[in-house]
Amino acid sequence: MAPPSPRPGHGLLRCPICRLDLTAAAGALACRNRHSFDLAREGYVNLLRGGRHRPSAGGDNSKQVRRRESFLQSGHFDAVAATIVTYVQRSGAEPAAGCWRVVDAGSGTGHHLGAIAAMLHAPVVALGLDIAREAARRAARRWPGHAFAVADLWEEWPVKDAAADLVISIFAPKNFAETARVLAPGGWLAVVYPGPNHLVELNHPFGLMRHHQGKGRRYVAAARRYIGPPTVARLTRHAVLEGDGIRDALLMGPNARRINPSTLDAATGPLTVTFDLVVLLSRGPSAT
Ligand SMILES: C[S@@+](CC[C@H](N)C(=O)[O-])C[C@H]1O[C@@H](n2cnc3c(N)ncnc32)[C@H](O)[C@@H]1O
Ligand SMILES: [Zn+2]
Repeated sequence: MAPPSPRPGHGLLRCPICRLDLTAAAGALACRNRHSFDLAREGYVNLLRGGRHRPSAGGDNSKQVRRRESFLQSGHFDAVAATIVTYVQRSGAEPAAGCWRVVDAGSGTGHHLGAIAAMLHAPVVALGLDIAREAARRAARRWPGHAFAVADLWEEWPVKDAAADLVISIFAPKNFAETARVLAPGGWLAVVYPGPNHLVELNHPFGLMRHHQGKGRRYVAAARRYIGPPTVARLTRHAVLEGDGIRDALLMGPNARRINPSTLDAATGPLTVTFDLVVLLSRGPSAT
């Protein structure tokens, strides 16, 4: 069987050890200092330092990834990608390199990255980063034209300086300093996080985590400081969920770790549920 080959988005990566460029080398990506990282059969690369194999702290487990995939396929969050693309394109922004270089920080199943890439007018070079190997594996299988890498967003990202025109961070860890470093001049950051009414109907029956209202203010301040003046849009939707739809919504995110499995028997519905999403967009200064 032919060894897996890198995808265009892997060209945005750099060596996590010495920061030199990575080039293709027989089923791997390697730098001139001979640091080498195998491409997995599915086409993603693991750039965690030391190729750590322990379950990734903070990363989604395979059950969460499956729940998220099933939930996103039902289309409840489709407005997220559409809002980001409409906003960025309406600004008249043209990517400097003639194609949109998009980095998805915490890409999960690659659902939003794939949707955004399909909607942007110019060609797209897409790279998703996630600490969960199961997420990278599934995303690489699902999106053969896009690149995926296993990396920890709380560390220095294995991405070249000024290599991205758009960084997206959707319900994922937000590292504003690294975002600023990898954004090209005039590049965009799009952050999506839950608003105060997100899944509010499920709070009481299932004892969900409360959303910290201060967080939104902190993200706005950090975007202003590291990137540029932010614009905030609120997407509110309602949907009737039942059975597995409710369980997907509950178990795809951080709540999965705290919900008592016995309470899930009550998740039968039908129940009208609120999706309250905040989309923050911020553009960095251009070179001129
Ligand atoms: C709630 S999911 C969102 C996934 C995707 N953005 C979406 O909206 O479908 C959060 C993702 O962040 C990843 N993640 C958590 N901590 C991380 C870290 N330190 N570095 C990289 N990814 C991380 C998880 O593995 C998971 O895939
Ligand atoms: Zn190296």
